[in-house]
Amino acid sequence: MEFITITMLFSLFIIVSSFFLFTSAADGRRKNLPLPPGTLGWPYIGETFELYSQNPNVFFTSKVKKYGSIFKTHILGCRCVMISSPAAAKLVLVTKSHLFKPTFPASKERMIGKQAIFFHQGDYHFKLRRLVLRAFTPESIKHMVSHIESITIDALQSWENRLINTFQEMKTFTFNVALLSILGNDEVLNRDDLKRCYYILEKGYNSMPINLPGTLFHKSMKARKELAKIIAKIISRRRETKEQHNDLLGSFMEDKEGLTDEQIADNVIGVIFAARDTTASVLTWIIKYLAENPAVLEAVTDEQQAIKMSKDECNEDKGLSWVDTKKMPITSRVIQETLRVASILSFTFREAVEDVQFEGYLIPKGWKVLPLFRNIHHSEENFCDPEKFDPSRFMVAPKPNTFMPFGSGIHSCPGNELAKLEILVLVHHLTTKYRWSVVGAQNGIQYAPFALPQNGLPIKLSLK
Ligand code: HEM
Repeated sequence: MEFITITMLFSLFIIVSSFFLFTSAADGRRKNLPLPPGTLGWPYIGETFELYSQNPNVFFTSKVKKYGSIFKTHILGCRCVMISSPAAAKLVLVTKSHLFKPTFPASKERMIGKQAIFFHQGDYHFKLRRLVLRAFTPESIKHMVSHIESITIDALQSWENRLINTFQEMKTFTFNVALLSILGNDEVLNRDDLKRCYYILEKGYNSMPINLPGTLFHKSMKARKELAKIIAKIISRRRETKEQHNDLLGSFMEDKEGLTDEQIADNVIGVIFAARDTTASVLTWIIKYLAENPAVLEAVTDEQQAIKMSKDECNEDKGLSWVDTKKMPITSRVIQETLRVASILSFTFREAVEDVQFEGYLIPKGWKVLPLFRNIHHSEENFCDPEKFDPSRFMVAPKPNTFMPFGSGIHSCPGNELAKLEILVLVHHLTTKYRWSVVGAQNGIQYAPFALPQNGLPIKLSLK
């Protein structure tokens, strides 16, 4: 009873205090609340150049030092408030997510398709999220291990004894896995056509949205139309055969869900977009960090070798199983630490749907709000010696809301289990069969737009 009273009082305290900490502030302007501290830079370009011309850590860290964990800036043509405390990120992404809608450049919305999951809130988003999540639960992706393994083996064999651009090759690998998860067995049949169109489409993702013949944007939009046609063909073939499919397209196509072909195409393209470059850039960083940390590489190789040997001893000619992938704690910590150090998504974008009062400041309606994942992951308050690559730190769980490589709340990544699975399978085959060396000096980072080792990390790979 006493416990219940204390719990109730505590809950009341949290509700009341969070009301004052962070409330919708229809009367915020009336109270003449100040904007957060910071500078807006040059007209239109703002501080975009300062952010992208150097390691973003330098920009963020110097701002946080000067202004504290909330500051205003102006990047990519938008007025923004950046936040770098774990508690504030939780409020924006989880507790008060209804006050902050996701926001993307209009050109990206047109290319991916405006009915894709990322661009929505409310009922439509909730429904799509349920359909995507059920296709990517551990239960649903378990059966994909052997297919992912054969994609992995083919990829690695094609890299043997060549100088490869790691990121480019990883993009092909993650594209094939993404298609497998979306289209199941139909993946191989349509891989080449889908790849041809998607590769043209992606070239225009960051182009100026000028839809005139000859422009990159125009070519991308044409490729997008063709992509939608291929997807429509697969949908109609499936409708004719009436077969059940245990993949993402199958989940989207269930009659009772009532999605139109256009909605399905936008979301198929959206999931390829979300799944491919993200996972490919994490894989590229893993290859780099393993090459730079021989003791970690040895520990990972030993772990993977032990799994391989235990299968050889049982004369199991079978490949990896789902259960095997659950026996890789060291490799899993390497993935976690890579996600933290590389922080390939430095931040995400939200937009205030109304004036919001936050820690005594006003965030005006229409301003962008950016939770700074990279800053949270690189703060000494959250991780000791944060610049050091040290997977063993994850033997202890990080403090709440300090580790969010997959975001948090209603838009957090539904593909995180699949991403981890494909990385584990690739690292297994890579470390048990191959050695590799990085070619050229490797200190720089480029943003494409995800953080990436300079030049996509050229490597040479050979059989052990
Ligand atoms: C290591 C690789 C990956 C990373 C680091 C990553 C990271 C993220 C993050 C941070 C978000 C949230 C963005 C936000 O809140 O604005 C997100 C959303 C999303 N991710 Fe991933 N992701 C990865 C791989 C994947 C894969 C493999 C898939 C699909 C198979 C996927 C599908 C999605 C989708 C559909 C969303 C949007 C969810 C929504 O709006 O409700 N991601 N991802």
